[in-house]
Amino acid sequence: MSERTPVGVLLSGRGSNFLALETAMRESRVPARVALVVSNRPQAAGLARARELGLATVCLPHGDYPQRRAHDEAVVAELRRAGVEWVCLAGYMRLLSADFVRAYPQRIVNIHPSLLPAFPGLEAQRQALEHGVRVSGCTVHLVDEGLDSGPIVVQRAVEVRDDDTVETLSARILEQEHVAYPEALRRLLSEPWRREGRRVIFG
Ligand code: GRF
Repeated sequence: MSERTPVGVLLSGRGSNFLALETAMRESRVPARVALVVSNRPQAAGLARARELGLATVCLPHGDYPQRRAHDEAVVAELRRAGVEWVCLAGYMRLLSADFVRAYPQRIVNIHPSLLPAFPGLEAQRQALEHGVRVSGCTVHLVDEGLDSGPIVVQRAVEVRDDDTVETLSARILEQEHVAYPEALRRLLSEPWRREGRRVIFG
């Protein structure tokens, strides 16, 4: 693969989706490279891992900024400085302001641990168990200004078992997240696609 799109990864915690993406890029399964990792939490394990990998990182604690907009402006400035063209949210526990979304129109991707539009927001796996659905999964979607509401790119289904706990269901969904996120990014970067209304259509 000749051209590798510079991607910025935003995270707040563990960073397993970031690592799945980074591995897929390193193995040339996704035509991209991690140009910058941004965390809003200094203690995020994903940030430490990114440093160990020798990637460019920046930590911008949101508490240091008077409002969301100011924090987002700082994040966007760092992304631009690093030449980032696409943004992947990977467990980034912040809603993006309209200005952030406009800075990267249709170039921001997120992963969510449910089959959207079911169970947006926090603790999606717990919501799925409490509702009693028999199938859940994960969704990769383009980010708009709403909460987990943008056009869907890829989904993978996971069966809910009678004896599932939040932990066991989350673990099986996470395995599928690590497949779905690289697949979605690969397709977005290497195939023709268009957005029609709420839909992302490939080909
Ligand atoms: C994942 O379940 C993802 O779907 C959600 O936050 C979690 C992040 O996990 N948005 P990790 O930090 O990528 O391990």
